Amino acid sequence: MASRTIRIGLIGYGVVGQGIVQLLSDNAATIEGRLGAPIEIRRVVARSPDKVREIEPPEGTLSFDPDDVLNDPDIDIVVEVVGGIEPAKSFVQKAIESGKHVVTANKALLAEHSELIEFAESKGVDLYFEAAVAGGIPIIRLLREAFSSDRIIALRGIVNGTSNYILSRMTVAGLEFEEALREAQEKGFAEADPTLDIGGGDAAHKLTILTTLAYGARLTPDRIPTTGIEDVTAVDIHFANRFGYVIKPLAVARALDGGKLDLRVHPALVRRGSVLASISGALNAVYVEGAMLGPCLTSGLGAGALPTAMSVVSDIVDVGRNLLVGAHGRVPSRAFQGEHLKDMEVQDPGDHRCHWYLRFTVRDRPGILARIAGVLGASTVSIEQMVQEGIGQDDGPVVVVMLTHTSLERNLMGALEEIATLDDVVEPPMALRIEED
Ligand SMILES: NC(=O)c1ccc[n+]([C@@H]2O[C@H](COP(=O)([O-])OP(=O)(O)OC[C@H]3O[C@@H](n4cnc5c(N)ncnc54)[C@H](OP(=O)(O)O)[C@@H]3O)[C@@H](O)[C@H]2O)c1
Repeated sequence: MASRTIRIGLIGYGVVGQGIVQLLSDNAATIEGRLGAPIEIRRVVARSPDKVREIEPPEGTLSFDPDDVLNDPDIDIVVEVVGGIEPAKSFVQKAIESGKHVVTANKALLAEHSELIEFAESKGVDLYFEAAVAGGIPIIRLLREAFSSDRIIALRGIVNGTSNYILSRMTVAGLEFEEALREAQEKGFAEADPTLDIGGGDAAHKLTILTTLAYGARLTPDRIPTTGIEDVTAVDIHFANRFGYVIKPLAVARALDGGKLDLRVHPALVRRGSVLASISGALNAVYVEGAMLGPCLTSGLGAGALPTAMSVVSDIVDVGRNLLVGAHGRVPSRAFQGEHLKDMEVQDPGDHRCHWYLRFTVRDRPGILARIAGVLGASTVSIEQMVQEGIGQDDGPVVVVMLTHTSLERNLMGALEEIATLDDVVEPPMALRIEED
């Protein structure tokens, strides 16, 4: 094996960038022992010269010009931890063009622009992205390498720590959504602008990447039916608990008979005591069901400087190993290759069948429940259980919750639209899927 130094250039010196510098320093001996060569940070690029950084970059490496990395012929691997689409996309493109290998943690970029992976393949360089999904959990490597001999029946993930933290706090402390969000922001589990996290967009980016790895599907996130957690209330958490369920922010990919994929991002009721119900706080998990292996759970921290840096640096070690033996592309970035990567049909959400949790806020007038049940029945949605809590006082509303038998989403949604127009229904009905594993 060649004996040389693996030289990296870091673009982005925020949470993850600083974690990488700390990890490479703290674990230098262990990493060298496993890689068989030292890793040298040649350059660290940030944007704002005046910012105070918690972790000092190695002496003489700090720059504010990405070209110091992109144009340096001695740099083997460009590590992109800037985030977002531009200018990160241009940085990655330019790195590949210059024949440099790339490691990135950028899920938005890879989900929206998978052509970058093709570009890297055409240029004979590696593009790895373990940290892009579920931070420190090695789910990419698991799907790409460990599962290469199995067919994946289904994959269910809790891949957004912010949403899981919020729903967990609503469950454990009885907080309303807004209170739990504020707490998550105070504790650093949510961004000042949490839209991408609570709206499900971040989970859809991650599910796009996981689906490609699991099924060889070419995909963009806009094809994944996505619902955020913003409309879940403390009342829903309370009733779910009463029926023996916990509400979790799920990302689901399933292979259906006939070759379609069932892809969904949404909050769902999962049975208390089930594997995913126990994944609490900011933890992430991905539960994969292989045709041969059966169920396989991975769980851990999906964010944070050091867990995320751990995944980034493990990718650097992998690319470094390739460099040392003069190889590249041995393990394809998307697990599937060539014509085996294909467009796959995504099931129309209306065709999805499951049990449902329904919440109606109604005036406590005679006959209202019969009218709701009538509309549901006419749409072939049958009620399994029903609870009304409290008695409407002074014409005030009451909450009625129902669990349904397995129903077609299209039929249910049609019924709910009609129910929303009934006299004495005072709020739009709430519907949450019940996910069985
Ligand atoms: N944070 C996590 O726990 C986590 C987990 C998994 C994946 N990720 C992914 O990792 C990536 C980085 O996240 P982060 O949390 O580290 O973000 P961050 O703290 O906001 O850091 C971004 C860094 O990029 C730098 N930057 C921005 N524009 C630049 C430009 N034009 N040229 C050079 N540098 C520029 C910023 O410079 P200044 O510091 O000078 O402003 C900052 O250092 C994202 O793709 C994110 O999705 C993060």
